[in-house]
Amino acid sequence: MTRYKVATTDEFDGDGARVLVEIDGLEIAVFRVDGEYHALANYCVHQGGPLCEGKLTGKMSVGDDGVGWEYEADERYVVCPWHEWKFDVTTGRNVSDERYVTPTFDVTVEGEDVYVVR
Ligand code: FES
Repeated sequence: MTRYKVATTDEFDGDGARVLVEIDGLEIAVFRVDGEYHALANYCVHQGGPLCEGKLTGKMSVGDDGVGWEYEADERYVVCPWHEWKFDVTTGRNVSDERYVTPTFDVTVEGEDVYVVR
């Protein structure tokens, strides 16, 4: 495993910001969500779309009563621009079917430097 410096923290304009980089021919996006950094491949496991170029959003889910809907406003879900499959940026998992997982990578921050481990 190698650690790659990909950005500095000032390149992220708050939560919801992202930086796209290329490491060894693979495009990777680093997202800032709730002050934490998460990296995932810019590759949608559905049909290879540029997943990380999609918008960030919250998530609708069935409420605790099993009838009503609840909106999780925490914007940590990226929507693929090709067919709108939605993935949790923090885990890489598809929100509708967790068998579909986009590769994720560890991120470390030292001082102002952001590193991706690959
Ligand atoms: S390629 Fe991403 S949803 Fe189809």
